[in-house]
Amino acid sequence: MAPLDMKPNELEPYWMPFTPNRAFKKKPRLFASAKDMHFITPDGRKVIDASAGLFCVNAGHTRAPIVKAIQDAAANMDYAPPFQYGHPQQFQLSSQLTLMAPGDLDYVLYANSGSEAVDTALKVALAYHRSRGEGSRTRFIGRERGYHGVGFGGISVGGMVANRKMFGNMLAGVDHLPSTYNRAKQAFTKGEPEWGTETLDELNRLIGLHDASTIAAVIVEPVAGSTGTLPPPKGYLEKLRQITEQHGILLILDEVITAFGRLGHAFASDRYGVVPDMITFAKGVTNGAVPMSGVFVRKGVYETHMTGAEHLPELFHGYTYSGHPLAVAAALATLKLYNDEGLFERAKALEPVFADAMMSLKGLPHVADIRTIGLLAGIDLDPIPGKVGVRGYDAIERMYADHDLYCRVTADTLIPSPPLIVSESQIGEIRDKIAAVLKAIA
Ligand SMILES: Cc1ncc(COP(=O)(O)O)c(C=O)c1O
Repeated sequence: MAPLDMKPNELEPYWMPFTPNRAFKKKPRLFASAKDMHFITPDGRKVIDASAGLFCVNAGHTRAPIVKAIQDAAANMDYAPPFQYGHPQQFQLSSQLTLMAPGDLDYVLYANSGSEAVDTALKVALAYHRSRGEGSRTRFIGRERGYHGVGFGGISVGGMVANRKMFGNMLAGVDHLPSTYNRAKQAFTKGEPEWGTETLDELNRLIGLHDASTIAAVIVEPVAGSTGTLPPPKGYLEKLRQITEQHGILLILDEVITAFGRLGHAFASDRYGVVPDMITFAKGVTNGAVPMSGVFVRKGVYETHMTGAEHLPELFHGYTYSGHPLAVAAALATLKLYNDEGLFERAKALEPVFADAMMSLKGLPHVADIRTIGLLAGIDLDPIPGKVGVRGYDAIERMYADHDLYCRVTADTLIPSPPLIVSESQIGEIRDKIAAVLKAIA
């Protein structure tokens, strides 16, 4: 093997995820380090992080208590086998997390990414019904414009066309609810729009078509995030809970983005007073510092599995890195930091300030709609006719090159979601930088 320092600047071999590789490699954008609200480029520029990395760095970057916890954990025990053995901090973390979780979501399974958490939840749903003697419940219902990661489970129930169309048949027996978004009825709404709960009529139609006895679970994000921040219409999640419960269908809320403060609460489920049967989480649980995800499971779902021979696993599922010591240490330190600094309350207090700042971009060039909720926004730009995504990519390049701004963009939609430590003046700074980018792009 060639020594690693042979080609320090070689860009070619890395096939970058969700990135136009050829365009990137002609004009790369690199971050070399990060601190609090900023990334630092290799040439020393401070770039403000308007999207908490990918919605995960809720307490800001390289926070000392989290760094120290990871360092100590790495020195103490690099790895512990998660099958048939445990380590004390896994149990400590699980107790803390399930105390935070709503209702009787009293059990937690661990994985390493949002995609794995979603696959885990779908599998638990199937196994649950089968254990109860209702093995005919195998169908899943997701939603158009939903994002549940990139595993076969996640893309099957997800509803973002580009993420699905290349990959064949995926899981069989999956239907999709309509997206709750309707620009004509909802444009420029702060928070939960009035219109949209009527889209749940489609769930009743699907139940009528297939019969509830064939449906295992409905999975949605409380706020559709990666498609560009679509807050739930007023009453939508409450009604979804009521319909699913009435028909014995499990409700999985994918809170990979919305958990850990993004909406001013520990979970979106708390904001809406809805207790689902499972919650998937990832990202903010470790402040993005070490990969970790998980699934909260209601007591009744867990207990249904606790049958059979006691020497056999009750669920034949798990990952080599489930509850990895470094991730667990990072999560414990992260939860403490969120609590010590009152970051969820801070996000709640800042919600109106952030909403006003983002909404003030209305009227700037190309802006077609703006949506806000918690510290999360979606800013749709009109696509250049016939060239979807060109304007968005132009924005990405200019933000980095000319405005020292990082903001997540998908196609032609900007998705600001700053770390919850953001100050009011930094919200203003982010707003002004986005405005400058909008004026600069073609
Ligand atoms: C709601 C939701 N589910 C799942 C995922 C997938 O997470 P990961 O990229 O960690 O697999 C994401 C990622 O953004 C997400 O937003």
